[in-house]
Amino acid sequence: MEKVIIDGGSPLEGTVTISGMKNAAVAVLYATVLVDGVCVIENLPNISDVAISLEILKSVGAKVERIGETEVRIDATEARDKMPPHELAKKMRASYYLIGATLGRFGHSVIGYPGGCDFGVRPIDQHIKAFNALGADVCTEGGLIEATAQNGRLKGGNIFFDCVTVGGTMNAMLAAVLADGVTEIENAAREPHVVALANFLNFCGASVSGAGTDKIKIKGVEKLHGCTYELIPDMIEAGTFMIAAAATGGNLYIDNVIPKHMEAISVKLREMGVTIDEFDDGMRVYCEGPLCNVDIKTSPYPGFPTDMNPQVAVLMCLAEGKSTLTDTIWDNRFRYVEELKRMDAEIEVEGNTATFCGGTVFKPARVRAVDLRAGAAMIIAGLVAKGQTEVDDFFYVERGYDNIIEKLRAVGAHIMKIS
Ligand code: EPU
Repeated sequence: MEKVIIDGGSPLEGTVTISGMKNAAVAVLYATVLVDGVCVIENLPNISDVAISLEILKSVGAKVERIGETEVRIDATEARDKMPPHELAKKMRASYYLIGATLGRFGHSVIGYPGGCDFGVRPIDQHIKAFNALGADVCTEGGLIEATAQNGRLKGGNIFFDCVTVGGTMNAMLAAVLADGVTEIENAAREPHVVALANFLNFCGASVSGAGTDKIKIKGVEKLHGCTYELIPDMIEAGTFMIAAAATGGNLYIDNVIPKHMEAISVKLREMGVTIDEFDDGMRVYCEGPLCNVDIKTSPYPGFPTDMNPQVAVLMCLAEGKSTLTDTIWDNRFRYVEELKRMDAEIEVEGNTATFCGGTVFKPARVRAVDLRAGAAMIIAGLVAKGQTEVDDFFYVERGYDNIIEKLRAVGAHIMKIS
């Protein structure tokens, strides 16, 4: 198992360039299955969730060719509704986007249950509800999800989600673009990755409007053609580096970021006393005084993202005074708290709220990444603690952070990965 060793205590200084967004990348990669032709995806992050997605695409017959460090060419013309190896599908959450894409193109899809990080129950009832609304029967037995369009092709329909779901919204979009007629998705997720997927599909000839609002309208088309599409920057990677700068008392220029996507995070960091200067596609982040306490509730975009919960918790540990963090998205997002406690943090969790005493002087320790974002948080805590911290189960972090070790070393961190 790989782990990282951090010799903490140095402020991070310099420039970090943000990679393409993981949660947009995985959706767009599976969306290429809908396309009759060649797609070139640019600004692809070098992370394991992308590598697994490309393997899954190959397993269903797509031709996949890496044409640069961050570019891939995908031709899914010959792809079919085959079942990808379960070993691959269960390695990540977003493999479920293959269902929307193959169901939309072939009228049939079968795949093993997806995996992904564990922070509570992760149902897919809303995805199924959307496929049903488009005229598909869905069977979930024996660890498989099999969806079949009743007349061989999906029909446009009205979908009203019971809760705001990113995956459900994107899977419904994938299924609807080649359906016969018009689909309306209400109570849709508004995340930048939803807009990114809509843009990619429209570049390929789809008719998707309203993405970024809570009502998306899709007019089904006969066919999609290839395109070249550049992925947007990863707001969670950017937020993670913003917090790393603030926590270490450093000064980072975060390059290749869309400041508008960062608003909910920036507002809370400023409330804590962090200075953030915004430029067209960059942000300078530094913190000169002590951090102040704050209360945060996660919520769907444009609210404070749940995927920043563990990282901001590190700042709450360091702040002066009591902070509270409530996660309204996942029911078990605080598994990392036990790890931060090993580093002397004082945190109490009750239900979906954590209370931080503040004023923590992190002690170096041997800790674990319990999931992707929790792993990033442990690395930040390790960068703050004076002395040597070991973070086990680093593979979680590699799911979603492109070259994090190299990026941190380039801005002054003493960190290395060992097997
Ligand atoms: N939900 C249902 N039924 C469903 C789908 C979702 O009840 O059919 C509930 C979930 O239990 C949860 C809420 O709706 O309480 C939101 O879930 P959502 O569907 O939005 O999550 P997701 O699509 O599975 C994506 C990201 C996660 C991120 C969440 C929330 C991807 C691949 N994953 O997951 O990202 O936490 O949205 O923003 O896009 C990460 O990147 O570290 C990560 C976990």
